[in-house]
Amino acid sequence: MKGLKINSRKQVLNLDNFLSPNKIREGLKTDILAKEIHYLNKIDSTNTYAKELAAAGCDEGTIVVAEEQTKGRGRLGRFWNSDNRKGVWMSIIFKPDITPTEANIFTIGASVAVVLGIKNTTGILSGIKWPNDILLVDKKVGGILTELKCEGNFVKYVIVGVGINVNQGEEDFSKDIRKKATSIKIYRESIEISDGKSERNNIIRRSDIIKGILTEMEVVYNSIINKEINDIIDKWKKYSAVLGKDITVISNKGEFTGKAEDIALDGRLIVKGTDGTKYALVSGEISIKL
Ligand code: BTN
Repeated sequence: MKGLKINSRKQVLNLDNFLSPNKIREGLKTDILAKEIHYLNKIDSTNTYAKELAAAGCDEGTIVVAEEQTKGRGRLGRFWNSDNRKGVWMSIIFKPDITPTEANIFTIGASVAVVLGIKNTTGILSGIKWPNDILLVDKKVGGILTELKCEGNFVKYVIVGVGINVNQGEEDFSKDIRKKATSIKIYRESIEISDGKSERNNIIRRSDIIKGILTEMEVVYNSIINKEINDIIDKWKKYSAVLGKDITVISNKGEFTGKAEDIALDGRLIVKGTDGTKYALVSGEISIKL
């Protein structure tokens, strides 16, 4: 009897470890997103796959989700670790009627959707580091990779790629990455230790996190379509891990230090350099001074 109990619990845990289109659809109340779901066991990159679908004329709102990516891509051509069943590796296809410059808002909006999606499903509050990082305390738990296909001054489609570390333990990260990256599991365990609770039995389901993000991303997308960009910016400010902080800006023109003061409606970060000069950053990288 005892053995049977253990086995059945194990089975429940294992079953929960796999994603499926049905698990993602169950209870999801979106009108545009995830009407079509492409679920893959292993793929080079969900963003690359999504681009092929978009080029072949798929409906907007189509999503691609994989258990594992072999060539997961991050910003600036970096490799994105996407181990089997350890995280959310997802791409969403949009076909908005906007210009390429206006499309910057997708990364800003997707960051908001990820923070709210994680918060609503796990209760964990993450923060946004401009332009595309999601942080837990001061380590990266997720990132957004937005890619565009343009024709003239119009956007043909936008691919929003979302990567979130969910089930990794410290041992799943190399020594180097461990210093900068974390997962929802690692964070939760650290809280359990500090609040003295030995076990939290509620499992983190990646399908719930995906649903949470899709729900919030649809809110964001409606704001983009209706040109209500202020709504997105207000939420971004609320969850920003950067505003008001002293930062170092690393751009192709060199490095400088200053304070992150604001974010513009087009997604540019407004920084006041230590010499008093104001900058509006379109791209680049920042590090927050601790
Ligand atoms: C970054 O922080 O540099 C962005 C990381 C984005 C990773 C996601 S995982 C799903 C999608 N497919 C990819 O190849 N990349 C994005």
